[in-house]
Amino acid sequence: MKIIVCDDYDQMSKKASEIVSDIIKENPKAKLGLATGSTPVGMYENLVKDYEDGKIDFKEVSSVNLDEYVGIDKDNPQSYQYFMNEHLFDKVNINKENTHLPKEDGSLEESVKKYDKLLEEFGQRDVQVLGIGPNGHIAFNEPDDKLNMHTSIINLKEETIEANSRFFDSKEDVPKQAMSMGMADAFNAKTLLVLASGKNKHKAVEKFMHTDKIETMFPMSFIALHPNCYLIVDKQAYEG
Ligand code: GLP
Repeated sequence: MKIIVCDDYDQMSKKASEIVSDIIKENPKAKLGLATGSTPVGMYENLVKDYEDGKIDFKEVSSVNLDEYVGIDKDNPQSYQYFMNEHLFDKVNINKENTHLPKEDGSLEESVKKYDKLLEEFGQRDVQVLGIGPNGHIAFNEPDDKLNMHTSIINLKEETIEANSRFFDSKEDVPKQAMSMGMADAFNAKTLLVLASGKNKHKAVEKFMHTDKIETMFPMSFIALHPNCYLIVDKQAYEG
């Protein structure tokens, strides 16, 4: 585990984007695992800049995303598909056919099976970017007495609905369910890049720094099992 404490959000974003950029430079066919949320926005901005400056090329890059809300159309600005288009896919020369997010296609059960099949065919990623929820959730794997290995439909915890309500007009508008990669899927990458920024992540980051236990009630703790994991945090997340 490499823990990097940055002065602020911009430095964290820069550090994260450098790692991803280097991976793409080294392997133009890099397979990326991508995340949404406010945390990786700055990292995507830097990657777009690197692309515009001719430092990296997304032509042969492919990607899978961690999760998507259930019951939200992909054209809805609150969907994670929309987020990815807005922050990365529409701004670089990635072939959108090679980018994948969980999506509703048939029943929820069928959709889950389809995403699992896609992930299996996609194989190990070169890098997986991960954020954390204030409660230590990974993707949408919420604290629980058991965690899923593979794709599943998750009933979002009240605290996650609360945390994500800032992106919606009201708390009532936040979907109650999401389709998410499981823990085994989320960690199927040569490199894990876990990002945390801001005071509201401090409790989780501090808990992680002070525990030597792996707990399903604290999904973030599982990142300690990955052989090549970077935890990149800013001072606010680290010190509170
Ligand atoms: C959502 C996503 C997570 C993300 C988390 C943190 O719940 N499912 O993948 O890590 O939010 O989001 P933010 O970066 O906005 O704090």
